[in-house]
Amino acid sequence: MTGGRHRASEPPPPDGGPATVSIDSSTGPPAARPTPDGDLVDCAREFLARTAPPVAQGFLADWPLSRARRTMTPSPLAATRWLAVAAREHPAAAGPLLDLLGANAGSLAWRQTYTVGQVGAAFIDNYGWAELVGPRGLAPSDRIACGILILGPHTHYPSHCHEAYEVYVPLAGTARWKQGERGWHDAAPGSAVEHASETPHAIQTMVEPLVALFLWRSRDLAQSARLEPP
Ligand SMILES: [Fe+2]
Repeated sequence: MTGGRHRASEPPPPDGGPATVSIDSSTGPPAARPTPDGDLVDCAREFLARTAPPVAQGFLADWPLSRARRTMTPSPLAATRWLAVAAREHPAAAGPLLDLLGANAGSLAWRQTYTVGQVGAAFIDNYGWAELVGPRGLAPSDRIACGILILGPHTHYPSHCHEAYEVYVPLAGTARWKQGERGWHDAAPGSAVEHASETPHAIQTMVEPLVALFLWRSRDLAQSARLEPP
């Protein structure tokens, strides 16, 4: 389902400003693409409403109605360099959201749940998440959280769990996923990956970076995931 015209390659490190959206030059002369403009929360909602599987669309019933948006304190992470790769690898349905993410990455509050001591420097260099909706998101909500997870290529997200019920919708990148006793399986962009409360789960990316929308429902949306003992 991915475009597949390019292999993932290491882009230049971020400079803290907005990510650059690369132009696909494989099918003719380069054409200027307009700088995407719009509201990330609305764009994520539209993506879910139009194309996401029903299990993800179920979160729309709790989507915040208010148009209020927080002013975020930007906190760039190295992992956001993968947004530019994802923006040229994506299936068409995720294009507007990935382009808008790339243009606004420098103004989002990117976070990491774990430390180098827990997961190693290579993981930390290729991992990050940012809330669009939720207690720390652009749109305040205490009912659901929705955000973006980034994992670079060839990255293993160790088994972890949390009380929150979770659904992922990959936007770009086919990765391997594992939930509980179920074996490793591929999840392509546009599919849904569901994690019941307290079910251990892990992710292994392959040649492509993974950019995925995550959705949480819990009475405690500020909780942190816990790594499983090795
Ligand atoms: Fe999770």
